Parts: sequence; structure tokens; C-alpha cells
Amino acid sequence: MTRSILIAIDGPAASGKGTLARRLADYFHLPHLDTGLTYRAVAHALISHGLPLDNVSAAETAARQVDLSRLDKHALSAHAVGDAASRVAVFPSVRKILVDKQRAFAATPPGAVLDGRDIGTVVCPDADVKLYVTASAAVRAGRRLRDIESRGGTADFGEILADIERRDARDTGRADSPLRPAADAHLLDTSEMSIETAFLAAKALIDEALATG
Ligand code: DC
Repeated sequence: MTRSILIAIDGPAASGKGTLARRLADYFHLPHLDTGLTYRAVAHALISHGLPLDNVSAAETAARQVDLSRLDKHALSAHAVGDAASRVAVFPSVRKILVDKQRAFAATPPGAVLDGRDIGTVVCPDADVKLYVTASAAVRAGRRLRDIESRGGTADFGEILADIERRDARDTGRADSPLRPAADAHLLDTSEMSIETAFLAAKALIDEALATG
């Protein structure tokens, strides 16, 4: 029997970690969990019921109802849902419920690729490989703008940048499980990299870690 492989990928909003995680999961034939979707699902439930985002007991109920096999990426992709997710993600009791589900996913053979903000530090501290994917805030804002424009939308670069900086401040500044690289994470700054180059760099780091681990 081959052993389980666990790959933890963290990084700030719009760093490209999601695209990278999907490509790595395909390449290594592992299931992938975008843990941001679990926080988005809670935020979406509160918004749909017209409840305030600081209603902790309603957020806990919504967190208990999150079904990892039924996360609707399309319904949860709205920008406002991402921002709301970052607000409900500050509550420790909500995090605990979601982290338990994420750990169960990670513990299922043949392992998994998980991406988020606290995978290497909290959810899977024993992961085989940890990557911390970053890019400058300006580069991330530019990527998001191109993404919006490629889908026929329009947006203002300055507003996107301010928004990304606000989200970074909230995700790195919260008391419980703030966004930060694990001590043993490999840093991957993709500011000057294409998706393909970032993938090849990540694959090389993972191949090396698996060979020596
Ligand atoms: O990766 P994303 O944009 O879908 O995440 C939305 C928000 O969810 C993010 O701003 C903070 C929160 N989040 C978290 O606190 N921990 C995670 N592991 C993943 C996301």
C-alpha cells in the first residue's frame, strides 16, 4: 500500500494558490479541498438568511451544516462572499467546526492537497510538504483585474488593491489562526512567475520533499 501524501498550501487572497493547488492535485492524483469555500459557505448561508455576519450562533449552525462534498464553487465565488467569509473566519468556534471537517478530509487515504490560510500552521501541521504562496499586493490586484476583465467585467485597480490590502490585514491580524507561513513552509513568491513556472517550482519542491521524507 502506498502511503498517504498531504500537501498544505497557504497564502493571501488572489495569490494564485487555488490554481496551483488544483494543478498539483491533478498531477499527484490527490483530492483537493479549497478550505476558503468552507468559510464562504458559512458566510453565504448567513447572507441568504439576512443575518448579520457577527451572529456567532447562526454561523456555528451554518458551519455544522457545511458538507464538503457539496460545496458549490460557482455560487460561492462572488467577491462579497469572500469578504464576508473573512469576517466569519475570525470566530474560533466557527473555525473549530470547519477545521475538524478539513482534518477529516485530509486524513482520508490517499491524502490530499488543501489550500487556505492556516493549513500548514493549524489544520495539518504534520503535512509532508508545506508551501506558502505569495505575490505583492499590486501584482495580485493586477491579476484580479485581468481576471474580471477577461470575463467581460470592469473594475478599478485602486479599489481592488485597497480591498486586497484590507483583506490581508484582517486575515493576518486575527487572533485565532492568523495567516502566516509555517516555520517549515517553502516560500514561493509568484510575483514574477507565470502559472506554469509556479507549478514547475512547486512540483520540484514537492518531489524533493517526498524523496527525502
Ligand atoms: O481563499 P478565499 O478567498 O476563498 O478565502 C475567503 C476567506 O476565508 C479568507 O479571506 C479568510 C477565510 N479563510 C480562513 O480564515 N482560513 C482558511 N483556511 C481559508 C479561508
